Amino acid sequence: MLNKEIVKLVNEQINKEFLSAYFYLDIANFYISKNLNGFGNWFNVQAQEERDHAMLFVKYLQNNGEEVELDDIKALKMKFEDFNTPLVATLDHEITVTNSINTIYAAALGQKDFRTTQFLDWFIKEQGEEEQSADDLIKKYELFGKDGKGLYLLDSELAARVYTAPSLVI
Ligand SMILES: [Fe+2]
Ligand SMILES: [Fe+2]
Repeated sequence: MLNKEIVKLVNEQINKEFLSAYFYLDIANFYISKNLNGFGNWFNVQAQEERDHAMLFVKYLQNNGEEVELDDIKALKMKFEDFNTPLVATLDHEITVTNSINTIYAAALGQKDFRTTQFLDWFIKEQGEEEQSADDLIKKYELFGKDGKGLYLLDSELAARVYTAPSLVI
């Protein structure tokens, strides 16, 4: 069993991870509509990873005999004017998710709930990687994306990203 406050925060995190999948699906659709299918692929893989994150939180509650409460996922209906904005929005989004996971971690520490902190350790590291890859994408776009040939090559590079299942098994 887990503390009620932790269960509430984890349930909220499930919704945030599914919302993240929606967020990246919106971005993937934007790039694909502009014929940047490599960017689209990168963000579709990202969306898949977010669904995995959500399911890891679902499984964590289930493994502890706790109730999973799914909430509405809001359609974001994002509109973008240029190719750079979604990349900056991605980094901002990941920083918000990092803060959210840190909040659960702090609450678990406060409750001396070390089972949850141990579970969250994977996500703490994962968020570092998520922020890094978003920042990397912004920098690559700044360097190469503004000229047609560079954008073509960057799109080809992002087309090569393949989905891999999360390294965390619970
Ligand atoms: Fe996530
Ligand atoms: Fe993420």
